[in-house]
Amino acid sequence: MKLTGVQATLLTTLYGRAMDALADKPFLGDQHALATMRAIEADPDFEVDFGNVGLRPGDESAVAIRAAHIDVLAREFLAANPVTTVLHLACGLDSRAHRVEHGQDVRWIDVDYPEIIALRKNLVPAPPGDYTALGTSVTDPDWLAEVPADGPVLVVAEGLTMYLDTADGRLLFRRLVEHFPSGALVFDSLSATGVKLSKRAKAIKMSGARLDWAIDGPQELESIHPDLRCAVALNAFDLEGFVVSTTLAGRLATRVFGRIPALRNMLSLYRLQW
Ligand SMILES: C[S@@+](CC[C@H](N)C(=O)[O-])C[C@H]1O[C@@H](n2cnc3c(N)ncnc32)[C@H](O)[C@@H]1O
Repeated sequence: MKLTGVQATLLTTLYGRAMDALADKPFLGDQHALATMRAIEADPDFEVDFGNVGLRPGDESAVAIRAAHIDVLAREFLAANPVTTVLHLACGLDSRAHRVEHGQDVRWIDVDYPEIIALRKNLVPAPPGDYTALGTSVTDPDWLAEVPADGPVLVVAEGLTMYLDTADGRLLFRRLVEHFPSGALVFDSLSATGVKLSKRAKAIKMSGARLDWAIDGPQELESIHPDLRCAVALNAFDLEGFVVSTTLAGRLATRVFGRIPALRNMLSLYRLQW
C-alpha cells in the first residue's frame, strides 16, 4: 500500500504530530498520532519512509502548533454550541475527535476520500459517542444530502483548501452555508505567494499533490456567500509558539520572513461564521 498525490500529504502532517508527541515539551501531545505512525511502520504492506516525508527538523512543531490552534477554535465553538454537528473535512489520519473533548449532543463526522476512511478504520480508534466516518470527495455534490441539517455545524478543515480547485472550494463553502441554518468554518489556507512557494516544497513535490486555491484575505472569503462573515483571521506568525519553535536557522529565517508582508501572510487560519 502506497499513498500518492494529495492523499500522501496526510503522512507528512501525521509525522509532524507524532514527532511532537515525542518531544520533551510537546505543543499538542497527540499520543494517537504516535500510535498510528507506529502501526503504519509495523505494517509490512505499507510502503512509507517517515524519515522522508518532507519535513525539515523543527517543522514538526509548526504542524503541531497549527493543529493545536485549530483545536482551540473548535473548542470555542463547541463551548458556545454544545448541540452541534462537526464536519471534520479531510480528516486524513488525524485523531482530532479524541483531542477536542465534546459531549453526547455532538454528532461528529470525519470525512475524507473512501480509501482514506477505509484505512483510518484500522488505524485510528473511533471516539465514543455519535461518530461517523464518511468516505467521499468533499467536492462531490451529493454527500451533504446525507448529513442532517437539524442545527448548527462546525466545519473543520485542516490542510484541505489549498488542494482544492478554486471553483470547487468556493462551491463547497457555499453548499455548506446553504445546507445548515448556522455555523462556523475553521480552516487554514495559503495565500497566492504561499501556493507558489509551496509548489517547490519537498513534501508537495514528493507526493505529487496539486495546489490551486489561494486565499488572500477575508474579503475573498466573505464574497463566497452574502451570509458569511469572517470572525477570526490569523497568520502563522500570530500563533503562539510559532516563531520560537524551530531550529536556530529556522528561527532566523522565520524572523526575517515575519517582516515581509507577502511571506508573513503565507499561511492563515480563519473562522468564518453565518
Ligand atoms: C495535508 S493532508 C491533511 C490531513 C489531516 N487534516 C491532517 O491534518 O493530518 C490532506 C488531506 O486532504 C484530503 N483531501 C484532499 N482533497 C480531498 C477531497 N476532495 N475530498 C476529501 N478529502 C480530500 C486528503 O485525502 C488528505 O487526507
